[in-house]
Amino acid sequence: MAPPLRILYLSAEVAPFAKTGGLGDVGGSLPKALRALGHDVRVFMPAYRAIEAGYPGVSSMPLQLNVPTGSGLIQAGAFEGKLPGSDVPVYFIAQNNLFNRDDIYGYWDDAYRFAFFSRAALALTESIDWQPDLLHAHDWHAAPALTWLATAGQANPRYRDVGSVFTIHNLAHQGKTSWNVFDYLQLYTHSLSEEAYGEVNFMARGIYHANIVNTVSPSYAREIMTPEGGAGLDGLLRYRQGDLHGILNGLDYDDWNPATDQRLAAPFDAGTLEARDENRRALQAAVGLPQTPDIPILALISRLDWQKGLDLMGYPIHLLMNGYSGPAQFIVLGTGNPQYENMFNQLASYHQGKMAAYIGYHAELAPLIYAGSDMFLMPSLFEPCGLGQMIAMRYGSVPLVRATGGLADTVRDGITGFSFYDFSTAALWDTIQRATYTYNADKEGWRRIQLNGMSTDFSWQRSAQGYQQLYQWAVAQKRYRG
Ligand code: ADP
Ligand code: GLC
Repeated sequence: MAPPLRILYLSAEVAPFAKTGGLGDVGGSLPKALRALGHDVRVFMPAYRAIEAGYPGVSSMPLQLNVPTGSGLIQAGAFEGKLPGSDVPVYFIAQNNLFNRDDIYGYWDDAYRFAFFSRAALALTESIDWQPDLLHAHDWHAAPALTWLATAGQANPRYRDVGSVFTIHNLAHQGKTSWNVFDYLQLYTHSLSEEAYGEVNFMARGIYHANIVNTVSPSYAREIMTPEGGAGLDGLLRYRQGDLHGILNGLDYDDWNPATDQRLAAPFDAGTLEARDENRRALQAAVGLPQTPDIPILALISRLDWQKGLDLMGYPIHLLMNGYSGPAQFIVLGTGNPQYENMFNQLASYHQGKMAAYIGYHAELAPLIYAGSDMFLMPSLFEPCGLGQMIAMRYGSVPLVRATGGLADTVRDGITGFSFYDFSTAALWDTIQRATYTYNADKEGWRRIQLNGMSTDFSWQRSAQGYQQLYQWAVAQKRYRG
């Protein structure tokens, strides 16, 4: 067995404490899988409003952090708890002015908020006298910790042997800000060619400073090294190619298990697929659609963002709802860009009785949609990994996806789902037709696809071993290369 490592895990989102998408799912589940491999992994995240307001099982720590910044010492507190169902410690950095707000992101000072979080998390490891072997930072929000570790931090012997891994969850969000943030972090460094004059790009910094870099699927790792997929950072990523890896996300099988999921109307597994019908009826009732049996229910659960291929959807959904591939129902759950929220609201009001749009974030409704729908749409323009399609497969809803990034790595056309390549409405409509045809005309073939998806292993076990390997390489690289 590999020697246990002390892993400092930094993430802006950790489910169930804070989640807007898959980053939160990963933060809530990968650490548990690493713990199962014997590592001392500790999760650090900001204390957002939900935590400040009092979260069951989370308590305030009797300490005060004095975090050194270019604006002087800034005081912060901390809370501690555990990832539910585990003994993995979670530490929350509490700073009222910065984190006690309505939302997780979307403020003018986000770069400073997360720079502070990153710096304060390192300070907290000192206060609790816990010396990490490895820093694992997720997405741009935690990248300031990597820059600090690789520069100012090296003055302190405590940090000299700490290896680092940076995980890219989404290259579309890079955390670009003003160079002043480095004065705030009290560190001196040269600029990168990816940074315009006076600008800092935290995503680029993470890629540049970490010992090892990875992203959340092998296909996305290849795509981001091309000018089409690199969002301006492909050159830097090619430069780091020797240290760049792709590891597919897993699912938290404690949370996402149709046999034990309390949020369903009727639990089921591969041997009791007929129980899905009860979930189907409960879903139709919950969203106010007629409880028609035997017609396909298509669903979308997503952040409503251009990344998700929503620009392709209006026309095919209109055709579908007009019966061009037979009767069908369509359910959307999502929130995000108002342009897409309006599109779905309008379609739903036009196609009343066939389509329902839930604009908002609804953690309790999502499982019922996975369990009660027949098909799950994910026509993404790009998709680093995607968890929706994996949850759908596990819950017997057949995914219809565009073969990009993690979707290409997890859905097999005609075997566990349906996929297409062209980013076009025609290709999406063709795929909807192929799937609805199979559903209507080949019940047995449909059931086989459902069962193939349900029996595919999406657990964290194998991926966590992949991360363990990256950690060992990172620590070795730091110790021997400096
Ligand atoms: P991304 O991280 O890009 O948003 P993923 O597919 O990796 O995409 O993860 C999305 C996660 O967020 C899934 O767990 C999905 O069920 C959940 N989700 C997205 N939108 C909503 C919503 N409006 N309500 C509830 N859950 C949602
Ligand atoms: C990002 C990506 C998504 C991925 C998730 C977790 O939000 O958009 O594809 O599954 O991170 O890694």
